Amino acid sequence: MRAAAVNPLDCHLVGGVPQVVRTQSGFFAPRNTGLGVDLAGEVTAIGPGVAAFRVGDAVFGSCDLGAGVRSRAFAEYAILRQDGSLLLKPSRLSFAQAAAAPIAGLSALQALRDKGRLRPGQRVLINGAGGGIGTFAVQIAKAQGAEVTAVCSGRNVAMVRELGADHVIDYTSADFLATDLRYDLLIDLAGSRTVAECRRVLAPRGVLVAVGGPIRGKWVRPLLGPLSLIVSSMFTSQTLTPFLTRNRRSDLIELASLMESGQVTPVIGRTYPLEKVPEAIGYVQAGHASGKVIIEMGG
Ligand SMILES: NC(=O)c1ccc[n+]([C@@H]2O[C@H](COP(=O)([O-])OP(=O)(O)OC[C@H]3O[C@@H](n4cnc5c(N)ncnc54)[C@H](OP(=O)(O)O)[C@@H]3O)[C@@H](O)[C@H]2O)c1
Repeated sequence: MRAAAVNPLDCHLVGGVPQVVRTQSGFFAPRNTGLGVDLAGEVTAIGPGVAAFRVGDAVFGSCDLGAGVRSRAFAEYAILRQDGSLLLKPSRLSFAQAAAAPIAGLSALQALRDKGRLRPGQRVLINGAGGGIGTFAVQIAKAQGAEVTAVCSGRNVAMVRELGADHVIDYTSADFLATDLRYDLLIDLAGSRTVAECRRVLAPRGVLVAVGGPIRGKWVRPLLGPLSLIVSSMFTSQTLTPFLTRNRRSDLIELASLMESGQVTPVIGRTYPLEKVPEAIGYVQAGHASGKVIIEMGG
């Protein structure tokens, strides 16, 4: 392993919150105490019958979180399936950049393309644009020909503008609701506004994709949010939709080609050595990361 990325998912698994994650990770204690999903490194050994990779290949991808799979990314070695989420690393990317991509990049791609049905020329607002998913979403939306408004804190404004955002709103000094504009698509990564508030800046046939935000409640309440979105969506011409990232190999291939072509370049905000994983997770958990947070393995 050369690099791994920290995701909010790792924070959820460490803390067992929201409590619904315990149905997967274990009720009273985690069944697997390994952590980390996204990774990049070099193949050091292959099993019998493996044809897709050779020893020495530079690869990136994500660990399978299925039951019984123990390998995780915050480690010196990991074992992955050749037909899982593992690809050759795009040559123009460093190991750290490649490790940054899977969960954040797939979330951005799927939120914009599948749930958001983004088309060229549409007006999209990305709330939480300075973080892991947001920095991918700004670039992918621009690559798809959208007019992008990014919402982030002041310290991320210059970075997000450099990624190609047409308009940037610093939420510490301005309110993205204070506008007469109507957006075709709102990707909400921050959860800082209610659904009713977000709807006010959506076009009559606009789409709200609710990806993330602070976790409120323990067992039932985190499930009520998505449910109420689906129900509310039935009574309006706008589409209000919850979101769940899918670990899909075909999408990782599409993301890799966007990165290989230079249309998307992962943004690394901070890098920590392997022994500082707790600190790195604490930083992401605080909810104000810039770009992606990377764990780099020595050597
Ligand atoms: N539904 C799913 O399947 C799925 C999958 C992956 C992630 N998620 C969730 O999606 C969210 C974003 O993930 P991520 O990986 O991008 O997280 P991240 O890297 O931690 O980034 C979060 C970003 O939100 C910004 N932010 C915080 N408060 C804000 C506010 N009031 N208004 C606008 N921006 C604000 C933060 O920085 P600044 O405040 O400095 O701008 C930070 O840049 C998380 O809640 C995560 O749990 C959901």
